[in-house]
Amino acid sequence: MTEDPKPATAAGPAGSAAASSAAASRPAAVPAPGRPKGSGPAGGPQQPRPARAGRAETVRFAATHTLPAFLRGAFHVRPKVVAAYAALGQQGWSAATLRAMRARHGGAPVEVRGLSGNLLVLLDHADVRQFYELPVRTLALDAPDKFRGLSLLEPTGVICSHGDTREERRRINDEVLAADRPAHPSCREFRAIVDEEAAALADRPELDFPRLRRAVARIGRRMVLGDAARGDEELARWLLAIREEANWMRIRKGRAAAAEALYAKAAARVEEYAARAEPHTLAALARRHGDAEGPDGTALDPVGQAHHWLLALDTVGPTVARTLLLLAAHPAEQEAVRAEVDGGGAELPRLRACVEETLRLFPLVPDLVRVTRAETVWRGVAYPAGTAVLVPALFHQRDPEHVPAAHQFVPARWLRPDAAQDIRMAPFSHGGGRCPGEHLGVLTSAALIASVLREHRVGGGRPALEPSQPLPGLLGAAGIRVALTRR
Ligand code: HEM
Repeated sequence: MTEDPKPATAAGPAGSAAASSAAASRPAAVPAPGRPKGSGPAGGPQQPRPARAGRAETVRFAATHTLPAFLRGAFHVRPKVVAAYAALGQQGWSAATLRAMRARHGGAPVEVRGLSGNLLVLLDHADVRQFYELPVRTLALDAPDKFRGLSLLEPTGVICSHGDTREERRRINDEVLAADRPAHPSCREFRAIVDEEAAALADRPELDFPRLRRAVARIGRRMVLGDAARGDEELARWLLAIREEANWMRIRKGRAAAAEALYAKAAARVEEYAARAEPHTLAALARRHGDAEGPDGTALDPVGQAHHWLLALDTVGPTVARTLLLLAAHPAEQEAVRAEVDGGGAELPRLRACVEETLRLFPLVPDLVRVTRAETVWRGVAYPAGTAVLVPALFHQRDPEHVPAAHQFVPARWLRPDAAQDIRMAPFSHGGGRCPGEHLGVLTSAALIASVLREHRVGGGRPALEPSQPLPGLLGAAGIRVALTRR
């Protein structure tokens, strides 16, 4: 791999905006395997100093960013904590911390000490671009803290796999989820499932989150495992218990063993359903890969990927709740979407744009964390393999310095032809770790919203949103309700 480090940038204070925009025009650096730390980019003596957070900055970062992220729950959101942080405006604290760090260090990547090691925080778009451009073999998704939780949830999942095995599992995910196409080959069957489940939602004048969540869980089980799994609340409880335990990232060591036992039971149940699942389901599509093995003989466990798919499809609930709430607060946008739904087309670009905009404003993965598997160079500074790297995605996609109307609901921004590649916005990430279920997630969310809007207007949303004001930084889904009025 060639080395193309960025020009040196002193770690001292500098004008952030100027530094940011100058850096944005530089080419992205690439990893420099084997180059000794301490030598300059061209083998010369000088090396730019790394930007390191001071003690006060470290404490502020932990208090306003990392600790709240941990307490909110990485794998299963804790609704009371989210509601408390939303009321306190925690997202604003975090953004203020990151802005101050960017200004103090001239936009350079900042090394912050944490309980489980150092974290390199990327605050400038040129570095964020490099993050997305680096291959997953160099910048891996299974950073240690994340891995500790994920290995309970989906020990054979692509996201916590390495090397060639990961590549093979990713290929299976891409094929089963039809990662390269907006319309999944089973989209006709999936839309029918969504319409059936949505019918039960619209029989009352109000749609609240608990009912929506239950309907989405049924939709997810039917799409992944088939109709036989529709009412399997026991499986749902097992998976929930594992997710709750994963939130602790194995801090509660004694409990992790119980979660592992529960995973074994859930995996056996998933296998049973997969064996008789209808051909359009994700489990049946995965079974076509048989008992595939990776190059080193590791079982690829295609059906085991279903644990992530079930978890991921559950996120359609909060996404739909927030989008309906935003549409209730933006009647003109709702009218435009309704006209599109009435038009009868299957693609629904405007509604998809609304879903994507909701995910920009309230991303399901607000922080992208990776770990380097080789030495990498960021702004001319070499960091050893094993460095954890953070892109605070929510901060960047809500950054008024770079995103116009950052705190407003502007779905039209997603209708631009290059929007999906715009690295300022990354609800599905970019590059080799980009979500393979992006299209399926958006399709399912849009189909469910279309099903509601086909016969109803939504209004009277709670919590109330004021379109002329900046939208809140956090919006807990658990308390969302919208009134349904028959058209
Ligand atoms: C609808 C909203 C969704 C959002 C916002 C979303 C977002 C993301 C993001 C940001 C990542 C990268 C995580 C990281 O870098 O740590 C990711 C990964 C992933 N997502 Fe999604 N996702 C969604 C739905 C889905 C669905 C429906 C599926 C499958 C049914 C899915 C399957 C996956 C898988 C397998 C990965 C791991 C990819 C890898 O390791 O290469 N996602 N998702």
